Amino acid sequence: MPIPPPLNFQASALLALLLLLDGNMFSLPEPPSGPLEKIFQYIDLHQDEFVQTLREWVAVESDSIQPVPRLRQELLRMMTMAADRLQHLGASVQCVDLGSQELPGGQSLPIPPVILAELGTDPKKPTVCFYGHLDVQPAKREDGWHTDPYSLTEVDGKLYGRGATDNKGPVLAYIHAVSTFQALEQGLPVNLKFILEGMEEAGSVALEELIRREKERFFAGVNYIVISDNLWLSGRKPALTYGTRGNAYFLVEVKCRDQDFHSGTFGGILHEPMADLVALLGSLVNSSGHILIPGIYDSVAPLPEDEKATYEAIELDLEEYCSSSQVERFLFDTKEEILMHLWRYPSLSIHGIEGAFDEPGAKTVIPGRVVGKFSIRLVPHMNVSMVEKQVKQYLEDVFSKRKSSNRMTVSMVVGLPPWLANVNDPQYLAAKRAIRTVFGTDPDMIRDGSSIPIARTFQDILQKSVMMLPLGAVDDGEHSQNEKINRWNYIEGSKLFAAFFLEMAKLQSQ
Ligand SMILES: *[C@@H]1O[C@H](CO)[C@@H](O)[C@H](O)[C@H]1NC(C)=O
Ligand SMILES: *[C@@H]1O[C@H](CO)[C@@H](O)[C@H](O)[C@H]1NC(C)=O
Ligand SMILES: [Zn+2]
Repeated sequence: MPIPPPLNFQASALLALLLLLDGNMFSLPEPPSGPLEKIFQYIDLHQDEFVQTLREWVAVESDSIQPVPRLRQELLRMMTMAADRLQHLGASVQCVDLGSQELPGGQSLPIPPVILAELGTDPKKPTVCFYGHLDVQPAKREDGWHTDPYSLTEVDGKLYGRGATDNKGPVLAYIHAVSTFQALEQGLPVNLKFILEGMEEAGSVALEELIRREKERFFAGVNYIVISDNLWLSGRKPALTYGTRGNAYFLVEVKCRDQDFHSGTFGGILHEPMADLVALLGSLVNSSGHILIPGIYDSVAPLPEDEKATYEAIELDLEEYCSSSQVERFLFDTKEEILMHLWRYPSLSIHGIEGAFDEPGAKTVIPGRVVGKFSIRLVPHMNVSMVEKQVKQYLEDVFSKRKSSNRMTVSMVVGLPPWLANVNDPQYLAAKRAIRTVFGTDPDMIRDGSSIPIARTFQDILQKSVMMLPLGAVDDGEHSQNEKINRWNYIEGSKLFAAFFLEMAKLQSQ
């Protein structure tokens, strides 16, 4: 096969210069020296091979969501491919069988094994454990994909394919970083462990239990956990993620009877369940977005001065953000307020009403039983069980004031706590330095407004430092049609992980 022209160091420098001119946000990276120079050259030279491996992985339809035997077989094949790859690196690999998943209707499907792998056990080196997942969301061409979702297609430096950014690309970038050290016969600067699962998109079935079980064994020597399963806030500027919001999801049922009524026959003499429910839902939050449940803000962490500065430093073009979201005006007018209300303050959203008559047309029904759905995004240091108590108490108070004859039941069906890391942990410092080396800029220090329970799970069970080091750009479209990862992100991301390993070793030896 002809060797494609490499993007050599001069080309990277040129690219960086172009970026500098375009937006003035980058300074030129220091030319790498020592072991890094060779590593970066090697990665640039082999980038087409790396893209080819991603093509092979994307070609496997490892959809964990649709309960179809053929797809489950594909998922198992994906796990075997990854295990083989790690074995090739010389890792000792264990595939932990998690039994099977019973589905409604009596069907049962095998749960893909979790891969636990280990490479290097030098007691003088830090041990970094990488978490990733190899399953994907469903995707069909008819959903609106411009290309076959399972055939990686490059257009203008964008590699389109299901799983390209979530999460196969980042997992492979990490593996390429490791294999580059080996190809160059450079010793690995850190001990490595891998935990790769195949059920993330389906709620990480059985994973928490496995982490608990392996706490004193597989995870015993682990110092740091790295996850690369989210996105940057921007198209060009890298980010480090140090927190996610939690979620408390509530159902509030108001019931008169199971059957519906006719409004001509009963309208005027009933306590209508829907009227009760709408009043309940309408009492939760005011039109400024302020949650009206007493006590709910009591344990929200106060805002220190130095935290304010971190929001000022983040690149976000508010006008562009408004127009790309097709929103005329947000609840807040400044970048800082918007970021804080996405990341460090709670929010309450109303999601829907079950049992409501939601077809087009003018049917004169009075629903006999309705269920409202809303959830609260939780932030440090809110406590899930405290929030549950406050919500139930408040809704009971509001409901009792209505003196309705209906029955109201409130239940919390999801309770995920928020996650917040210490950004002064050594691995955050190492990642910042690595980002500076590869991209010539400091990262955006970001949080994620949604809930990614895996980080909190690792932190709670293992009590270790967890970091999210994303590779993908903001427009990668994880879970949506035309998911992609940019070739640039994928290849520079491989360099980033390699530089990160070296920085970790440096910090350890200081
Ligand atoms: C919502 O509540 C907050 C806190 O009490 C208050 O500052 C704000 O003015 C209220 N907004 C409206 C529109 O009433
Ligand atoms: C949350 O609050 C409950 C009391 O409502 C308390 O028992 C529990 O220990 C708290 N949990 C944490 C993590 O603070
Ligand atoms: Zn993912």
